[in-house]
Amino acid sequence: MTDHPTLAFEVNGEARECNASPEMRLLDCLRYDFGLTGSKEGCGEGECGACTVLLDGQPVLSCLVPVGQCAGRRVETVEAIAEKDPELVERMTETGGIQCGACTPGIVVTLYSLRQANPEASREEIRRALAGNLCRCTGYEGIFRALEDGHG
Ligand code: FES
Ligand code: FES
Repeated sequence: MTDHPTLAFEVNGEARECNASPEMRLLDCLRYDFGLTGSKEGCGEGECGACTVLLDGQPVLSCLVPVGQCAGRRVETVEAIAEKDPELVERMTETGGIQCGACTPGIVVTLYSLRQANPEASREEIRRALAGNLCRCTGYEGIFRALEDGHG
């Protein structure tokens, strides 16, 4: 038994509950309570973007969000986004936007979110949207092209 209140929120379109401490990081709740291991821990300090998920449609760093702040809200992880937009993931592979893959889940979430808001985002807009997503392998060219090649 636990003294913590039950937290109810939506994760990838499903109603979910957890009894974790409200202070628990959303990243840990997703990975360890819900088994959604697509979101990665890079730095754990809000610096790398590997843990990016959508909270009510906006990108957030799940290593910085206490799960208590998610009550009644909508979380989407890379698992759901890869199902919604498989072409984006495919293009990331084709363009060389994925190398070691550590940054990839966070980058896919950020690119997806940008495209929802701005389907024809320019290179500069993509660069700005990705300012919080660090990739040490690719030089970003393939990542930019993964979004640009999907322009209408
Ligand atoms: S793990 Fe969250 S920003 Fe690096
Ligand atoms: S592919 Fe290795 S950090 Fe981006």
